[in-house]
Amino acid sequence: MHRRKQASPTETSDHLEDEAIQTKVTAPTSPSLSSSSWTGTIVSGLVWSIVLFFGASYLITESWTWGYRGKWTNIHTYIPTKELVFSEEQLLKYDGSNPNLPIYLAIDGDVFDVTEGAGWYALGGSYHHFAGRDAARAYVTGCFQDDLTHDLRGLSEAQLKGVDHWKKFYANHHTYHKVGRVMHPPIDPHSPLPKPCDKGRPQKPNRS
Ligand code: HEM
Repeated sequence: MHRRKQASPTETSDHLEDEAIQTKVTAPTSPSLSSSSWTGTIVSGLVWSIVLFFGASYLITESWTWGYRGKWTNIHTYIPTKELVFSEEQLLKYDGSNPNLPIYLAIDGDVFDVTEGAGWYALGGSYHHFAGRDAARAYVTGCFQDDLTHDLRGLSEAQLKGVDHWKKFYANHHTYHKVGRVMHPPIDPHSPLPKPCDKGRPQKPNRS
């Protein structure tokens, strides 16, 4: 029968010391190590979620962003730029007739770069009359000859909402972006209101 050898007092204390040293060496990892492994798990979880989000979007909608195109897919949203201030004369230079310059248009004071829409706004485009100026009024009256002005006096609530709608159209576009403001000389409140326009182009029907 195997008998366990009785350890001498010195041997026992040596053994205990050894154990203590071993315990020290193999002691559970420090708090910083365990928190870094948590961080690793969270980061890899996030990376996988992002890959799955965009991958599934591409497989289902053939677009990386679930079919969304707008301000948040516009690279300019993420590039901080200083806003420019234009006079009406300065803005006119960017009306799309010079192919070497960007195309700018304004609506209710806000100036947008619409160079990406040159097909509409350059010389010969169907909406060239909007380029290089603030023709906010014409957007809602459809009078593309007589109402190329920023003067919104006399418009109905619904028409003012229409102006706001077009402003948002440019501000939230997936390729256009705001570049600054145009400074208009103040409108004399006693000057006559723009003539009512009855032969304007009707508003574009909604897509839906
Ligand atoms: C007050 C009336 C209207 C205004 C102010 C207006 C304005 C505009 C503008 C600014 C664009 C260019 C959009 C861009 O930059 O991408 C555009 C595009 C277009 N417009 Fe008009 N429009 C009007 C009426 C109409 C009408 C009556 C029709 C047709 C019956 C029409 C048909 C189109 C089409 C087909 C496009 C291009 C496709 C699109 O982006 O929807 N528009 N319009």
